[in-house]
Amino acid sequence: MRIAMIGTGYVGLVSGACFSEFGVHVTCVDKDAGKIERLKNGEIPIYEPGLDDLVARNVAAGRLSFTMDLKEAMQGVDAVFIAVGTPSRRGDGHADLSYVYGAAEEIAQHLDHYTVVVTKSTVPVGTGREVEAIIRRVRPEAEFDVASNPEFLREGSAIGDFMRPDRVVIGATSDRAGEVMRRLYRPLYLIETPIVVTSLETAELTKYAANTFLAAKITFINEIADLCEKVGANVHDVARGIGLDGRIGKKFLHPGPGYGGSCFPKDTLALVRTAQQVGSPLRIIETVVDINDKRKKQMAERIIAACGGSVDGKTVAVLGVAFKPNTDDMRDSPSLDIVPALQAAGAHVRAFDPAAMHEAEKLLPGVEWAKDAYGTLEGADCVAILTEWNEFRALDLRRVKSMLKRPVMIDLRNIYNPEDMAKAGFTYTSIGRPSPAGGMDRG
Ligand code: UDX
Repeated sequence: MRIAMIGTGYVGLVSGACFSEFGVHVTCVDKDAGKIERLKNGEIPIYEPGLDDLVARNVAAGRLSFTMDLKEAMQGVDAVFIAVGTPSRRGDGHADLSYVYGAAEEIAQHLDHYTVVVTKSTVPVGTGREVEAIIRRVRPEAEFDVASNPEFLREGSAIGDFMRPDRVVIGATSDRAGEVMRRLYRPLYLIETPIVVTSLETAELTKYAANTFLAAKITFINEIADLCEKVGANVHDVARGIGLDGRIGKKFLHPGPGYGGSCFPKDTLALVRTAQQVGSPLRIIETVVDINDKRKKQMAERIIAACGGSVDGKTVAVLGVAFKPNTDDMRDSPSLDIVPALQAAGAHVRAFDPAAMHEAEKLLPGVEWAKDAYGTLEGADCVAILTEWNEFRALDLRRVKSMLKRPVMIDLRNIYNPEDMAKAGFTYTSIGRPSPAGGMDRG
């Protein structure tokens, strides 16, 4: 089989490379000449474990290629995927669909045989129909169907998520299109992946429903964590206690500084807007958005409280600025709220992140960047863990303590154990866990 993938961003590049690994001939198309040039030279523009090898292997096998020429890419394809960005529109939170519709116009110009036009980008309900209408308007006689095939890839484990998904969701407007999509995913039948084939609108909504549900789940445990602190309970035991109920499930019950990243903040907002627009408001998700926004800001207050109520003139060491580990993605990272709030309160912030510093430099002015975790610590008044990178999980605590001015750690990812930290002589603040002395672990 043969496909074209428009957009070599995160979703397009991972999906394109993974399809080629399945044996499909994939041509990835992008308008960014520099990006295509770099990809042709084997450079991967994003940080995703395993992606460089996957791309190199499939390029060498002749199944994966990169071009700026959509016409050439669409020759003889069974399907063309739209995997361009859908950022939040400034001001109103609606998804900005101009790139998707632009891609549809261009696809229309090059359709010369039956092709399935698939939206892979996360797009609001109704977008697939609009893509269909645009193509129909430009090329009334063209032979095509539209389909929706949302992705459920997590950054940092995207290849595994693609190769071994919990499910594949396909929204198709005809049996013929459904059949092409099933054939593309045939390798997954071997591992008995459930494939949900449904209508276009249902597939589009399923993606948003999944992401907003997960955002709500995280927000729920974050609020339970806050309550745990007040009543002296342990949020991890609560999470385990409820998560073992199969109806609830164990995953996504880890409390933290609030969800960030390229999907949850954008998708929750977009679904809220869609729901309001059609007069069926999603009040749960409206509240989730509101709580999460406030939470990120409250995290700075938590750090300030742990430093005795003021960080004015103090140095705060920050470990991790990416929205989660194994990515260099800074989009809607909690650090973007926390670090400026600390600076506004008079703190000097010295930070380190294993992958995201290059991105973060542009977004977090005034931060002093260190070469490694220990490089942030010398003479700092406290250390705050914002991202749970593995390399922060087993720091030499004696060394940490000797470098800090005061042994104060604020662990917003709960990667250390309160008892161990107390034994090591730290004043330790985490999320939703009582301190070993039996009191609250917040100052
Ligand atoms: C998410 C979805 O998981 C994926 O299915 C979808 O396609 C895109 O959005 P991603 O944004 O890469 O993927 O990250 P994910 O690992 O889901 O984490 C999102 C945010 O939630 C992070 O900020 C993370 O720290 C936070 N999170 C996650 C928690 O705070 N607690 C948890 O238990 C899980």
